[in-house]
Amino acid sequence: MTRYTPDSKERVRDAVDMLALVSTRTELRRAGVNSYFGRCPFHDERTGSFHVRPEEKHYHCFGCQLSGDPFDFAMESEGLDFRGALESLADRFGVTLEVEDEDPAAAAKRQRRDRLHALLERAAGYYARYLWDSGEAARARDYLARRGLDEATLKTFRVGYAPSAWDRMLLASRQAGFTEEELLAAGLVQRSAKQRGSVYDRFRERIMFPLADARGRVVGFGARAMRDNQPPKYLNTSEGEVFHKGSQLFGIDLARRHAARAGSIVLAEGYTDVIALHQAGIQNAVGVMGTSLTDEQARELERTARTLVLALDADGAGQEAMLRAARIAAGRNLELRVVPLPEGSDPADLIAQDGAEAVRSRVARSVPFVSFHVDRILDQASLGDAEGKDRALAELGPVLAPLAPSVLREELVRRIAGRLDLSDGLAATLLEAAGTANGGSAAAPAATRTARADPGPDPAGIPEGGEGWGAFAPAAGGSSARSALPGVLDHRARGERTFLALCIALPRDGAETLAQIDPESHFTSDLARRAAVHLAPRLADPLEGLPPEDPDLGAYVFELRKQAARGGSVGPANLRHAWLTLELARLDRARARARVEGSGMAALGPEYERVRIERGRLSEQLGSSSG
Ligand code: UTP
Ligand code: MN
Repeated sequence: MTRYTPDSKERVRDAVDMLALVSTRTELRRAGVNSYFGRCPFHDERTGSFHVRPEEKHYHCFGCQLSGDPFDFAMESEGLDFRGALESLADRFGVTLEVEDEDPAAAAKRQRRDRLHALLERAAGYYARYLWDSGEAARARDYLARRGLDEATLKTFRVGYAPSAWDRMLLASRQAGFTEEELLAAGLVQRSAKQRGSVYDRFRERIMFPLADARGRVVGFGARAMRDNQPPKYLNTSEGEVFHKGSQLFGIDLARRHAARAGSIVLAEGYTDVIALHQAGIQNAVGVMGTSLTDEQARELERTARTLVLALDADGAGQEAMLRAARIAAGRNLELRVVPLPEGSDPADLIAQDGAEAVRSRVARSVPFVSFHVDRILDQASLGDAEGKDRALAELGPVLAPLAPSVLREELVRRIAGRLDLSDGLAATLLEAAGTANGGSAAAPAATRTARADPGPDPAGIPEGGEGWGAFAPAAGGSSARSALPGVLDHRARGERTFLALCIALPRDGAETLAQIDPESHFTSDLARRAAVHLAPRLADPLEGLPPEDPDLGAYVFELRKQAARGGSVGPANLRHAWLTLELARLDRARARARVEGSGMAALGPEYERVRIERGRLSEQLGSSSG
């Protein structure tokens, strides 16, 4: 990766217009000489506690205590890391970042990319003008209006139209000084199979949706057919030097800062869904573009927000996509929720038919993924006879297994009992049994269940097998390949359990790592805290000295030891990863607390970034070595 010269930061800082920067997020009024104030963009407030001193390029909120320089502002408000903030501000205020000691090959590569980006940027502008200005695009304008999409929103997304002629893009770009080869590399033209050598526009007679990267640079297009006999319905830029569909999220450039601020990001399937959602005021929405969520996309989502709200089409494919998305998200620091949509519809339809309020209230009523999953199993089961009910229970057990005792869990058990016409108690018992008995594909170890008030499982009765270290490896390591859906909501509990089991599996490193743990702040469950205290001096023999008055702890430690025993090839890197996961979660909670209490959240930022980056690297390393 290229490095910027040390003075780059200073030149950017000098160039930043602090008032212009902050004014994109909140309205400022003059308070005095070189002093402005307004409502804080980082916390909800009615009064204006947020103060800006443009000459010093400094901001401070007396409400939430956040303060900093332009880089902090960009990082906080747009969810960027420092490098991203530097690049974004440089872009915005016209500073050319100087790159340190770039070798000639790297320089050439960068220049090449810059040119392709410039070309795609021009193309987006060309198509957008063509949509609004040309007679030919009248049908497209009508179509978009009928879909209920406003001109203003369409312009924000730079939606355009490609003319029907075969060479408009080709000619216009050549005129602007771009070569045929560059046009090919950018995916704007393609070579004719028949007339060898000649190239022609790839996109013709289509509505053009520009696809931008997180910084807003156009990298490709999704293009919707206007005629019926014009397959495919959507044509994408082909995979190439700058475009990779699998790493793309439609609308991420516009949604990111809203998502960072809201703490949640809404994922829809289609281009029109995303645009319609933004128009309805749900500006933290992005699109997965029909395909199933990829690991790269999940990583980008995780970077942006903690909660992922799935608003995928309520058709069979969309529902399947939710389950796949959950598998991809499992093991990441993402809490999953699902927006219930009326059967057969997508967000764009819903807004067009029932209006913005209808979709806003649906999004507000999103349910935890596990509820959606339970409902889906119940809806698809045949509950007419005992066998059908048993099959449903066998499927439901592992889904509930990872859920810690909670009101949600009890509600789900009651819902299942109601649908299966069983007493709540019997349903709970059968689900419990189904959760543990499903050895080969179990969702999660029994540990969290043992915190319930029942007498605890008979150790000899717990079958061997169950999930291996797959769940302990980072998601990239192939947890997505496992057949059953791991518990999604309890990623914290799972991370804590994983960590403790790894300490047992690697007792020497484990003891060292455990010594750095603060049970109070690193664990969210009291059971895990008790286990950490118990294990610290006993990693070599975890079952020794278990207090008889704490059967829950006994069962938990027993499970941990069992997990450790079926460990397979785990090493210090796995332990380090598990430890970083706890540390990251701890910092995340500390930041959330600081935000609420208004006590210097920015101070925790660099530490959080450092841990996040190290963990990311380790994830990749572990992922590539195990898969
Ligand atoms: P849909 O068929 O649900 O499209 O596919 P949509 O967005 O609801 O379509 P209209 O325009 O509103 O009728 C969802 C998404 O899947 C991708 C596109 O990103 C589309 O928005 N897709 C679909 C493709 O990439 N290629 C296709 O041929 C079809
Ligand atoms: Mn759709």
